[in-house]
Amino acid sequence: MKLIKTKDGEEMSAKAFHVIKDIVKSNPYAVLGLATGTTPLGLYRCIIEDYKENGTSYQHIRTVNLDEYQGLPKSHPQSYAYFMRENLFRYLDIEESNTYIENGTAQNEAEECARYNKLLSEMPRDIQLLGLGRNGHIAFNEPFTPFGSKTHVVDLTENTIKDNARLFDDISEVPRKAFTMGIKQIMHAKQILILASGVNKADAVYKTVCGEVTEEVPASVLQLHPNCILIADSEAASKL
Ligand code: GLP
Repeated sequence: MKLIKTKDGEEMSAKAFHVIKDIVKSNPYAVLGLATGTTPLGLYRCIIEDYKENGTSYQHIRTVNLDEYQGLPKSHPQSYAYFMRENLFRYLDIEESNTYIENGTAQNEAEECARYNKLLSEMPRDIQLLGLGRNGHIAFNEPFTPFGSKTHVVDLTENTIKDNARLFDDISEVPRKAFTMGIKQIMHAKQILILASGVNKADAVYKTVCGEVTEEVPASVLQLHPNCILIADSEAASKL
C-alpha cells in the first residue's frame, strides 16, 4: 500500500483529485467506483471546479457506487443516490444512465444483489474510491464480514448508525440495513484510492496500514491489493 500524508483535508482532496483526473484524461471511457460520506466531498468539489474551469468531460465515464441504504428511494435526501446527484453528478456532463447504485427499495434482496454482482462483473472498475469507517469498515462491510463477500444486505452496527445519524434529523430515521458491495468486489478494482481525514480515523488508519490482515478490520484487506493508495491527513495519520 502506498501511503501519502497530507497536512489537512484540503490537500488530501487535491491529491486524490489528481489521481482521478489522470484516469479520466487517459481513458474517457473509464469506470469509476465512487463512495459517499463526508470524506470524498472535497474531492468531488475539485472535480466540479475542474469541470467548470477546464471542461474535463465525463460524457462517456461510467460510475458505480459502493452502497445504498435499504428502504430509501432515490428521491430521499438521505439516500446515497441523492447524495451522488446533489454533490457531484448534477454539475457534470455525465449521463444519469451511466451512474449505477444499488436500488434501496428493491423488494427482493437476493435478486437485487445478483443484479449488482452481474453489473460489477461486466464493468471492471479502473479505480475504486473508499472512505474509512471508525471501526475500519469499507463501504458498509462491517467488522467480521468475510473477505470473500459479494453484494449483500447488512445490519448496520450501532456505532455506524450513530456516526451516520448526523446527516439525519433524528437517529431513529437512520435505516438499520443497507445494500453494500462486498469486499471481494472492492478488491477486484484495478486500483484503490482510500481517503481518511480527521483524528477520529487515526485508530482505523493505523490498523489498516500496520495491523494484522484480519476480517475484524475490513480495511486491513487492502494491504493485499497490488495497487492501493491511502491518502491520510496529518490527524488521520497521527498514530502511524
Ligand atoms: C459510511 C459509508 C462509507 C464511508 C463511511 C465513512 O458508513 N457507507 O462508505 O466510508 O461512512 O464516512 P465519512 O467519510 O463521513 O466519515
